[in-house]
Amino acid sequence: MRVCVVGLGKAGLPLAAVIADSGIEVIGVDISQNRVDEINNGINPLPEEPGLSELIKKHGGKGLKATSDYSTCPGKPGEITTFIIIVPLFIDYNKKPDFSILKKAFESVSKVINDGDIVVLETTVPPGTTEKILKPVLDNSNKKYHLAYSPERIMTGYSISRYKEFPKVIGGFDKKSGEKAKELYSMFCKNVQLVSNIRTAEMIKVCEGVYRDVNIALANELFKVCESKGLDYYEIRHYANHEYCNLHLPGNVGGHCIPVYPWFMINEFNVPLIKLAREINDSMIDYYIAKIIKIAGNKKNVGIIGLSYREGVKEKAYSMSITLIKKLKEKGFNVFGLDPMYNRTEVYNEFGIDIIKDIANMDAIILMNNESAFRDDLLKIKDKVVDVKNTLRKLLG
Ligand SMILES: NC(=O)c1ccc[n+]([C@@H]2O[C@H](COP(=O)([O-])OP(=O)(O)OC[C@H]3O[C@@H](n4cnc5c(N)ncnc54)[C@H](O)[C@@H]3O)[C@@H](O)[C@H]2O)c1
Repeated sequence: MRVCVVGLGKAGLPLAAVIADSGIEVIGVDISQNRVDEINNGINPLPEEPGLSELIKKHGGKGLKATSDYSTCPGKPGEITTFIIIVPLFIDYNKKPDFSILKKAFESVSKVINDGDIVVLETTVPPGTTEKILKPVLDNSNKKYHLAYSPERIMTGYSISRYKEFPKVIGGFDKKSGEKAKELYSMFCKNVQLVSNIRTAEMIKVCEGVYRDVNIALANELFKVCESKGLDYYEIRHYANHEYCNLHLPGNVGGHCIPVYPWFMINEFNVPLIKLAREINDSMIDYYIAKIIKIAGNKKNVGIIGLSYREGVKEKAYSMSITLIKKLKEKGFNVFGLDPMYNRTEVYNEFGIDIIKDIANMDAIILMNNESAFRDDLLKIKDKVVDVKNTLRKLLG
């Protein structure tokens, strides 16, 4: 068995490392030469991912060889290679999926693929994408390959453990493709489930994301009602949740999963509930801005703690902190930021703001995610803090 993982990012690198750790020879392909070099030198480019550093140290440059050269992917003549592709799919300003990164990766694979090889896509895509948009790219190779789709279901921060805990769903283009992919994944995943076809497997992941977005929107709406009535949503949620009720936590929705996948449905179908949920979640930022203005009055220095879309993850894709910075600047505020994942230069270069030097000097602070690193300083000025995730109260116990 020989596996090429294409895209060594937050999702692809843990996968490549887990496969290598099961004893399978892995070639990791990434267009970033810097990333390739780090991995081959045993350096983990994602130190925030628990367990990954040990695996990269053990297998980097050995069982897991990274490269930016696709021509090194095929094995010896007659050897079967499985290509697992896990590069990002973004939506553009019109919320339409931009398939260019995926198409490029498939084009590169189509140039090195051989008869009998297996191609599995893991990137979350609108149902139908693998067969309608990406298979034609591979068909240019004129090779007889097997094709399957298996949604990546990790969560940054838990990536390694999820391969052991979560069922791994696979849909094949045909029976043989599904079986071949299942055989491979069973070597490093505990619970592999073959579903009817590729479109079913694609839809499973989209449904997961939509479910979470809609439920967070419901939580946000109920949270606002509770606040307006002087009621504690968190207490209510605690007692309401039982067998028939699973009220979610309110807050912003960011990252390149949940705010993106509902658009795959909204773009193609009449789904008013899903569309409204997206609008409700996006509008939460204005709700928090109104709170900031109430605290700061006409004073101007606002600090944002938590610039990544989630604590403990260095990821600014669709982070609502970016929207917040833009909106606060438009309102004339001086905006400062702090996030343990980013140093002073990165805060300036990536978010266009200066770092918070002294939390106590801010006129208002918004704690955007569950970041707990600044707990003591924030507790001293807690009346000046908009606590989006109820973090300070949780820390107090
Ligand atoms: N990170 C997560 O927690 C998460 C969760 C669920 C799903 N996903 C899925 O995984 C996909 C990828 O996300 P990610 O977090 O790994 O992204 P990422 O930005 O961290 O990494 C993507 C990697 O792909 C590489 N790449 C881009 N084009 C390439 C090409 N043509 N050939 C080879 N490498 C190429 C980039 O250099 C980068 O290293 C997402 O679109 C999503 O569908 C991620």
